[in-house]
Amino acid sequence: MKVTLTNHTFSTLLNSSFINLRRPFCSASLLSSSAPDSVKPQVPIFLRPPIYSTKLSDLKKWHNWAKSVASSIGSTFVQSDNGPDSEILCRELKWFIEDVVEDKHSLFSEMGDGNERVKMRADIEELYCLWRQRIEERKPFQYVVGCEHWKDLVLSVQEGVLIPRPETELIVDLVSDAVSKNDDLKRGVWADLGTGSGALAIGIGRVLGNGGKVIASDLSPVAVAVAAYNVQRYCLQDKIELREGSWLEPLKDMEGKLAGLVSNPPYIPSKDISGLQAEVGKHEPRVALDGGIDGMDALLHLCDGADLMLKPGGFFAFETNGEKQCRELVDYMRSNRSASLCNLEIIADFAGIQRFVIGFHR
Ligand SMILES: C[S@@+](CC[C@H](N)C(=O)[O-])C[C@H]1O[C@@H](n2cnc3c(N)ncnc32)[C@H](O)[C@@H]1O
Repeated sequence: MKVTLTNHTFSTLLNSSFINLRRPFCSASLLSSSAPDSVKPQVPIFLRPPIYSTKLSDLKKWHNWAKSVASSIGSTFVQSDNGPDSEILCRELKWFIEDVVEDKHSLFSEMGDGNERVKMRADIEELYCLWRQRIEERKPFQYVVGCEHWKDLVLSVQEGVLIPRPETELIVDLVSDAVSKNDDLKRGVWADLGTGSGALAIGIGRVLGNGGKVIASDLSPVAVAVAAYNVQRYCLQDKIELREGSWLEPLKDMEGKLAGLVSNPPYIPSKDISGLQAEVGKHEPRVALDGGIDGMDALLHLCDGADLMLKPGGFFAFETNGEKQCRELVDYMRSNRSASLCNLEIIADFAGIQRFVIGFHR
């Protein structure tokens, strides 16, 4: 996970042909309640029924207000912590309207006297409240609308769960590449440790063949609940099992049996957390970000985990903070795990940053 929240994945939202992809494969009525009872996953705005109605003139008034507060930000957030500028915020406002208003064209129509009713997925008071949170509290846009586009998925997210980042998508491609060359890997059991929203588990679940399975685990009950909700939305309950607990602890029964192990663990050095963009540092869960003094705590632990959990020929892929951590991880494996882990490679992300360490169990 990168430390900033980029917005380029949203550009696809503007393309109306993309809208259908946003619908989950399972209808909301089919969703069972296998998520932990203690946490209720939030339904993203675009999936809510349009049960609210407001006067067009009131919606236009809200829109003008929202646009003016977004415009007033200028480059203030950019200067303070490399946050979003007005242009990005105004673009988010358009996406927000697409999610909330059933017929967004009505908002921009010059016809009528303003007394027409517009159907919406949230009431007008909630719109004021959510947009204030976006601007005044720097609540990430993805938490405002309750979802993030990741690969061709639209994943539900909420406070307490890391928003999946575009660079992490590459792990699914690396797994896809590995399983395409090896049927044993394709039919085997994989683990996604620290699954968050379930992004990697779902992405990998879809590239495995019949018989292939993913165990997705997380320490955070909110993450487990949200991941379970996303798994249900994509009808992958038979392929992906959720477990709650710390790293290897909930997978004791799988020692030496896993075909693959992936993780995008917390890897930001503790001292860097306070300098993060407010959207990240103030709102995303610290347990998803903080990797200890040098950011390596979880990565080193997982490296030992790959040795313990993978069967011969098993594949692993870890995301890191960048080149320095990649090198440290490879050095650690070569010095301490060379009897079991081999074919180590450092892979760059789309931006050319050395981001992933992959390899196999002998
Ligand atoms: C950087 S986030 C990655 C989330 C998700 N895999 C993704 O790529 O979007 C790290 C995840 O590890 C989880 N985590 C942190 N400490 C953990 C632990 N001791 N055991 C299991 N999961 C943990 C966090 O709750 C968080 O969901």
